[in-house]
Amino acid sequence: MSSLTVPVSFGSQERQYAIHIGNGILGQLGIFLETCFTALPKKALIVSDSTVWPLYGVQVEASLEKIGLSVEHLVIPAGETSKTLETATHVYDAALRQGLSRKDVMIALGGGVVGDLTGYCAATYYRGMPFVQIPTTLLAQVDSSVGGKVAVNYQDVKNGIGAFYQPSLVLVDLEVLHTLPRRELLAGLAEIVKYALIEQTALGTETPASETTFFQFFEAHTHDWENHLSTIVARCCNMKAVVVKRDETEQLSQTASGRICLNLGHTFAHAYEALTNYSEFLHGEAVAIGMIQACETSTLMGLIPPEMLVRVKALFEALSLPVRPPRVFPAENLLRLMRKDKKASNSQLTLILPEKTLGTVTLVPNALEDTVRSVLAIH
Ligand code: NAD
Ligand code: GLY
Repeated sequence: MSSLTVPVSFGSQERQYAIHIGNGILGQLGIFLETCFTALPKKALIVSDSTVWPLYGVQVEASLEKIGLSVEHLVIPAGETSKTLETATHVYDAALRQGLSRKDVMIALGGGVVGDLTGYCAATYYRGMPFVQIPTTLLAQVDSSVGGKVAVNYQDVKNGIGAFYQPSLVLVDLEVLHTLPRRELLAGLAEIVKYALIEQTALGTETPASETTFFQFFEAHTHDWENHLSTIVARCCNMKAVVVKRDETEQLSQTASGRICLNLGHTFAHAYEALTNYSEFLHGEAVAIGMIQACETSTLMGLIPPEMLVRVKALFEALSLPVRPPRVFPAENLLRLMRKDKKASNSQLTLILPEKTLGTVTLVPNALEDTVRSVLAIH
């Protein structure tokens, strides 16, 4: 079975890993592990959730046993409520019961919740042991499994306790997406289209006129994008790898070329999510609305021409992504939350906004609240 490989490197040879992307490659996990470890671990602890484990657990377990590993698993309840320190203690307990050492491996089999939690546990168990990401949602395949942000939520702070800790390997099997609910798939698509809107800034280069930009690619494939998933996922992972190499621990907070460019639409999105107690929107749905509102803000500020906004909206609609909130939300409540965003300084709105050409974004400190207020009022 063939697969694409996207390398992720952090300067020195010791710090690099591969993202393998293919169809039906879950059963090859053992083979990929053998190539990425010089001394193969003896034990593996698979962490998965109550939806994903029954679907794919046996296959992953068998692949590890085939290369001689002693394997145990821990299944956590599916959903964001599992991303806690309490669940982390269950992972540590399972690791201790199994007698995992720092030379063994933890395997995250699931979406972003399982990936973030397992990565956090791997980063902290005996001060750090190897872990492997097997992302099973589209969002996790193009975003959360790549780049080393690992965390659990703490009190009401999302990702309040965490670390930057890179996996040893990421295995993306696109076939697992067949069981993913459509709504979750489209939420992942929103994060993918985000890469089309930040492509030039992320890569730090202009796409030569002779080549198809990621945005143009989507315009040409609004009806059959699902037939091109390996190219799409590889392109996103490559963009994220380039950004993360430039700014592994998010130090470049003053310029859109840092990791912060991955935040396009997120200041708006987090406000909608928080205002609805994380119960109404999937993250990707809120991000889609936020990206359109970022484009609307740019248009009002004269950063992009109105035709560009029209083009972005048309693409979102053709891909069945939301372009406006489903009902009216009080602008003042949204603004209050947006002022608390991690990018804001002294409660001044700071936004990543599209500028000039499709694929380019800029960091706007002190964004004018009146402009944003009028965007939040659009229906
Ligand atoms: P999730 O892990 O909760 O998965 C969504 C749902 O889909 C769950 O119910 C899960 O059981 C189910 N599921 C997963 N794979 C499936 C499959 N193949 N078939 C059927 N059902 C499947 O959510 P998510 O959207 O993957 O991730 C969201 C999390 O990711 C959030 O906690 C967010 O903070 C985090 N995140 C982290 C980063 C990062 O850089 N680390 C980036 C973005 C998001
Ligand atoms: N998801 C944003 C980041 O990885 O930085």
